[in-house]
Amino acid sequence: MSSLRLPIETDHLVLRPFERGDLEAVCRYHVLPTVQRYVERPTRYHEDVAKVISIMRDQVELHRPGDTLTLAMVRKGDHALVGQVSLRWSDATASQGELRFAIDPAESGKGYLTQALTALIDLAFDHFRIHRLMVRCDGRSHHSVKLMQKLGLRLEAHYREHALFQGEWDEELHFALLDREWRPSAQVVDLPVRGRVA
Ligand SMILES: CC(C)(COP(=O)(O)OP(=O)(O)OC[C@H]1O[C@@H](n2cnc3c(N)ncnc32)[C@H](O)[C@@H]1OP(=O)(O)O)[C@@H](O)C(=O)NCCC(=O)NCCS
Repeated sequence: MSSLRLPIETDHLVLRPFERGDLEAVCRYHVLPTVQRYVERPTRYHEDVAKVISIMRDQVELHRPGDTLTLAMVRKGDHALVGQVSLRWSDATASQGELRFAIDPAESGKGYLTQALTALIDLAFDHFRIHRLMVRCDGRSHHSVKLMQKLGLRLEAHYREHALFQGEWDEELHFALLDREWRPSAQVVDLPVRGRVA
């Protein structure tokens, strides 16, 4: 596999690794209660966000299963950091990956996650040769469900009240996409169904 080339450009965004100087921009959305329920590491204060940024700054390649690649979504026009996307390589034998995302609510509805996730899915299938990608989504977030459907992900599971978040039951949806199901315009070739892999 050739080495990963960053940053990645989309129509309106540059996806690049996080930097120490991103603290103020990440604080603007990461600590918001509406974002907190979707991020991996809870944050309340600047110091918490600084720790998260230092973790994300190291997430720049997928060398082994368990590794995560996290990229900041930076708007081309004014260089504002509007959100983040991640790709986790969860299993090597079966080439499984998971996507995560968070966006500043003030910047939602502008097509940014459609662009960022499209680029990350391209990267997962074309560069990292991931076979299947999954996304966990809040069942009550209709916009996320629409986003998943727009990207062509398939709803595979609906977990009802299987965890509590701040005293409230969750509704977790699992969406997934196989490499050969990805949009025909992508570089991904239509792979035959794999037989035994292990
Ligand atoms: C849901 C969310 C992650 C989508 O990200 P986004 O960058 O806003 O998504 P996009 O602008 O690329 O829109 C993708 C689709 O989502 C829907 N959508 C997103 N925001 C919308 C809005 N404000 N009004 C109506 N539809 C919206 C639309 O169907 C849209 O596709 P379309 O524009 O072709 O109709 C974002 O709106 C958000 O963070 N919301 C609050 C937090 C949240 O729910 N997070 C969920 C994590 S599981």
